[in-house]
Amino acid sequence: MEIKDLYGLIGYPISGTKSPWIHNTVFEALDVPAMYMGFELDESQFKKGVEGLRALGAKGFSVTIPYKTEIIHYLDAVDPLAEQLGAVNVVHCDNGKWVGYNTDGTGLIAVLNRHIAKGVEKEKILILGAGGAARGIAGALIKNGAEEVGIWNRTTQKAVQLVNELNQFTAESQKCVCVESNKKFSEYSLVINTTSVGMMPHVDDTPIDIHSISPKAIVCDIVYKPHCTQLLRLAMENGHQVIYGIEMLIEQALQAQKIWLGVTEEALEPLRAQLLAEASTVE
Ligand code: ATR
Repeated sequence: MEIKDLYGLIGYPISGTKSPWIHNTVFEALDVPAMYMGFELDESQFKKGVEGLRALGAKGFSVTIPYKTEIIHYLDAVDPLAEQLGAVNVVHCDNGKWVGYNTDGTGLIAVLNRHIAKGVEKEKILILGAGGAARGIAGALIKNGAEEVGIWNRTTQKAVQLVNELNQFTAESQKCVCVESNKKFSEYSLVINTTSVGMMPHVDDTPIDIHSISPKAIVCDIVYKPHCTQLLRLAMENGHQVIYGIEMLIEQALQAQKIWLGVTEEALEPLRAQLLAEASTVE
């Protein structure tokens, strides 16, 4: 029997995740003897679960909600970007040394650069939501030269708090603003939903009225179950260019593979196309 290297995902809840499909497809395509498994750990199991991964000699793992910050206490080193964002979604276990990275932001930027001819630089971007996902995305956009990042949230106080935090690490130019009224939505050329609205099973819900945004805005949703959310469906009906959540999930996973296996961009290119083509059909 062939011995395989162990990779995995820790989080809670993780049922319905497409990460094992993405990573195992990559391992198979690249002929790497490895397997990627999901480990659903509740708060009471988290510490033992992480220690278990160390004991089993896991080569790397992904971290998702709600452990992206907590995992930092278990690492030997943290990449500067992940440190600044205060969130790690990828751990590389390199000969017993655990190093944390954040590929959520780099993955998002790579996707946006493919869809926006001039990249995110000088764009005014509206983020819906003020949770952990919004924080990572807003931080990456500011670092990559976005002109303005507007944060709108159902609970305005949380948006105000996030804006203040984000403006601290870009103190010289207060690029992050709190958007309190939907009357301001039309000023943005890209709208990114980071809330859980529209996620299975609430597939008919949408976080905003699609008519409140600029008719030219690109609409992006990080929700990937269902593949096409109500927000994206309405956006397409109204003539907007859209970006599916699965594209970002795939991209952050491919960036993780670069860290784990040292795979080149050239090797990943055909895999990206394959994964994107199959994504809407994989349960
Ligand atoms: P994550 O780490 O995935 O971002 P989170 O920190 O729980 O998750 O944040 C969830 C986000 O979705 C929040 O911005 C939340 O808004 P509130 O701060 O007002 O709770 C938003 N959200 C969740 N359900 C929502 C709903 N039904 N309508 C609008 N926003 C909602």
